[in-house]
Amino acid sequence: MSSDAPADKRPVVLSGIQPSGRLTIGNYLGAIRNWLPLNADYDTHYMLVDLHAISVRQDPAERLERCYEFIALYLACGLDPDKNVLFVQSHVPAHSQLAWVLNCYTQYGELSRMTQFKDKAAKHADNVNAGLFCYPVLMAADILLYDARKVPVGDDQRQHLELTRTIAQRFNRSHGETFVVPETMTPPIGARIMGLQTPEAKMSKSEDAETNAVYLLDEPKRIERKIKRAVTDMDGAIRFDQENKPGVSNLMSILAACTGDSFETIERDYDGGGYGNFKKAVADAVIATLEPVQQRYAEIRGDEAALREVLRDGAAKANARAAATIERVHHALGFIPA
Ligand code: TYM
Repeated sequence: MSSDAPADKRPVVLSGIQPSGRLTIGNYLGAIRNWLPLNADYDTHYMLVDLHAISVRQDPAERLERCYEFIALYLACGLDPDKNVLFVQSHVPAHSQLAWVLNCYTQYGELSRMTQFKDKAAKHADNVNAGLFCYPVLMAADILLYDARKVPVGDDQRQHLELTRTIAQRFNRSHGETFVVPETMTPPIGARIMGLQTPEAKMSKSEDAETNAVYLLDEPKRIERKIKRAVTDMDGAIRFDQENKPGVSNLMSILAACTGDSFETIERDYDGGGYGNFKKAVADAVIATLEPVQQRYAEIRGDEAALREVLRDGAAKANARAAATIERVHHALGFIPA
């Protein structure tokens, strides 16, 4: 591997979120919260993936606001910039560079099978652009650029991670060991938080229906209202059964992820007490989980200069690591050194 490898020899962790809506408790419980302890053992890199986000149309002024909001929320959730490399994808040109190379090692049929592409193509039928189609290749570039060993994500990203592994292995077979083949890391509880109104589909930040998701910046009253109105069923039992009781099971997952209680404990504590009582406990747990995040967010969001300083520092570190990988890849491909 490269001779100018960075000094930190711990295995690399990398993950990211696209600024394509407002962060939900799905993003928090499925991803961000699980990122927090990893810097004890890994060299952790967390991105804002703005290049991915342009595959769907969004007003630039709104996007800019979202990007600052997301970075402030990363910090408010507890990601310490002194212990994690926090950066923006578009600040590291090597992501786009490597994505082109990897496009040439990815098959049309593989990209056609991606369920997220099929979903998004159906939802944005008037704009099925090449970026939307090649989205998983850019994601592979994000990961392979940093020699990431582990990628902590929610369940919905598994298929993209599998494709990343396939691309890395294919390239390595053709050109010798160039990329680290990454592993997916998903949490035991919270990897797939479902919509409050549509518990058979995942909670999404680019949701049309406001009541389907709890957003990290929702006020306590609003959280309580949304959870109170969450879809359940008619039998009144607090029991984990995703197939027959998706709404109750989802609320149990949210409660378990927020409190650390097991499903057995929750069943014992709340069964027989009615859904009203149970929903109140879920709402209280979510509010208590988000309260410190919201407080810290209010303190830091206003100082955009400080946020940009964090990102400049992160970009410098990310660029150094990424440049070493690009050099290695170009060498493997037989390009004349620059
Ligand atoms: P994105 O922005 O859709 O979601 C960000 C993270 O949140 C997780 N997540 C959920 N987890 C549990 N329940 C849910 N309802 C839920 N919704 C979202 C996602 O699994 C993800 O971990 N393509 C990625 C972003 C990306 C990326 C990367 C991730 C780009 N490059 C490199 C890891 C590594 C995406 O759109 O995630």
